[in-house]
Amino acid sequence: MTVTFRPMRWWDVEPVHALEARLFPDDAWSVEQFWGELAQPSRDYIVATEDDRLVAYGGTSTIATDADLQTIAVAEQAQGRGVATSLLRTLLDRADQRGARRIVLEVRADNDAAQALYRRFGFAQIARRSRYYPDGSDALIWQAPLPLAGETGADAGSGSEGSRR
Ligand SMILES: CC(C)(COP(=O)(O)OP(=O)(O)OC[C@H]1O[C@@H](n2cnc3c(N)ncnc32)[C@H](O)[C@@H]1OP(=O)(O)O)[C@@H](O)C(=O)NCCC(=O)NCCS
Repeated sequence: MTVTFRPMRWWDVEPVHALEARLFPDDAWSVEQFWGELAQPSRDYIVATEDDRLVAYGGTSTIATDADLQTIAVAEQAQGRGVATSLLRTLLDRADQRGARRIVLEVRADNDAAQALYRRFGFAQIARRSRYYPDGSDALIWQAPLPLAGETGADAGSGSEGSRR
């Protein structure tokens, strides 16, 4: 089955939130937070669908030369097939096109899968926030230069309907 990427629209908020609640049970964003994100012109959100079902989403904020990876998540049944790799590449390319020269993100210290993904894109740790999350876990702040130097590894081999909202 082919995974397709497109800009996130208002009708995606409910399925995105359902996935968010499943994948981030302790600190899921609310529906209102996603509406707030979509309303801001500095944001770029992309969703991935497979067989008309939403399987992933991710978003960035770009202000001048600074971008932030706001979130990225892939449904359990679609993980390990390069979906996050394709999604992140699209988001980083978009931030680069907007003029960002670096991107930062926050990742849980115990999230090995996400850290492996980010490392492949050239992210490296710049700070650590102790006991940042409600459960006492640390947050790591990672940064990567833009434009991308190139990354290796998984790829969904997916079609793309274009870039942004
Ligand atoms: C992290 C996440 C987005 C990765 O999505 P994915 O589509 O499975 O990632 P990809 O298939 O593109 O894999 C990219 C790389 O990530 C790493 N990776 C992915 N899943 C992994 C796992 N379970 N364990 C270790 N590394 C993993 C690997 O380096 C992989 O490259 P490889 O396949 O060449 O080994 C996904 O696991 C997820 O949504 N997790 C829950 C939400 C979350 O933690 N989001 C990030 C918040 S900071």
